[in-house]
Amino acid sequence: MLRKEQNDLLTQTGPTTPMGAMFRSYWIPALLAEELPENDCPPVRVKLLSESLLAFRDTEGRYGLISEFCAHRGVSLWFGRNEENGIRCPYHGWKYDVTGQCVDVPSEPSENGFCSRIKLTGYPLVKQGGVLWTYMGPRDKQPPLPEFEFSLVPPEQTYTSKRLQECNWLQAMEGGIDSSHVSWLHRGNLNSDPLFKGAKGNQYNLNDTKPVFEVVPSDGGLLIGARRNAEDGKFYWRITPWVMPCFTMVPPRGDHPVHGHFWIPIDDESCWAWSFDYHPVRALSKTERDAMVAGKGIHVATIPGTYIPLANKSNNYLMDRDSQKAGHAYSGIDGIGMQDASLQESMGPICDRTRENLSSTDNGIVMARMRLMKAAKALAEKGEVPPGVDPAHHRVRSAAVILAPDQLFKDAARDALTVRPGKAQTSV
Ligand code: FES
Ligand SMILES: [Fe+2]
Repeated sequence: MLRKEQNDLLTQTGPTTPMGAMFRSYWIPALLAEELPENDCPPVRVKLLSESLLAFRDTEGRYGLISEFCAHRGVSLWFGRNEENGIRCPYHGWKYDVTGQCVDVPSEPSENGFCSRIKLTGYPLVKQGGVLWTYMGPRDKQPPLPEFEFSLVPPEQTYTSKRLQECNWLQAMEGGIDSSHVSWLHRGNLNSDPLFKGAKGNQYNLNDTKPVFEVVPSDGGLLIGARRNAEDGKFYWRITPWVMPCFTMVPPRGDHPVHGHFWIPIDDESCWAWSFDYHPVRALSKTERDAMVAGKGIHVATIPGTYIPLANKSNNYLMDRDSQKAGHAYSGIDGIGMQDASLQESMGPICDRTRENLSSTDNGIVMARMRLMKAAKALAEKGEVPPGVDPAHHRVRSAAVILAPDQLFKDAARDALTVRPGKAQTSV
């Protein structure tokens, strides 16, 4: 349970808020690279951290993320013409480059310097992997580019998708570090989803619905271990790394690709759920990639031309009561991603954490909130760089391991939880 002011601190990420300042310490995923497929292609509106922005790619291939609205009289530059290394407002022709600098005011004589004094907010936008990343914080505090393994492996080994989620980022993120719900909500999918089925670990998941959690701080966030019974008195551990503020990786299953998420606030009542799948040492097979594109595994089928899920709040997520009764889909909702999203959205746009009753399986969530609040305060009061900004903190992997009862997961699985280029994930 949280006090109201704590819930506000954690959930509000607009420009003037402490958590907003913290989010602005990191490179965050802004768009899929596919959204700006070629030079001078149509610009894309994107709202991030409650700021309305416009992404575009200029004639030279440079990416820019600038304020959506023209500095003249506030027209949306989404209507603009993307031409000759800039976006031109269609109203009176003012033109801006990828940094947001005004480069032409046709109605003013160029010698009077009027246009050079006009600059829109502009943020860097950099392609790495299939993602365009941005950094929305102070220029002098800009960290090196992120080093998450999914965006550094060769393109044939990785796949990323995004979808709209109609709730605050934190309740979505909390679902990602809550390994206990897998034995319930997703139980119908473990042995049927093409990107999950066949792993030995699935049986441990299904047989032991009372996982014991052990949470250990890491440099960038937390390592959240969920222990279930295996054979011969041994334990099956599923270990989820959480890197602040909102990166998580799901523990792997067999030789299936490894996956994870980012939850990036659009505003305080919606977020982008980013989902990636990659294999550290091999190309994704055609079957795997087709399944991801079709919305299997942690991905979601979306309305063509949008990133809005086909099953969404407006159609009750295509709930199937017969399937629920028969146990094919435990909640009656099809697909792992929408099973999560439907329940997280059902908590309301911003979950009221003053009314919850947490149990021992929520330890990871409790510790994540503590670390987030502490880091946001340390940044606001002392200018301390939050955990997870340093790219060294990104070199983590999830793992699934069998350990003897006397082994501590943080020691026994230390290598498994670290990126080892050229080495496969540790999985059961
Ligand atoms: S409002 Fe954009 S040029 Fe006038
Ligand atoms: Fe889930």
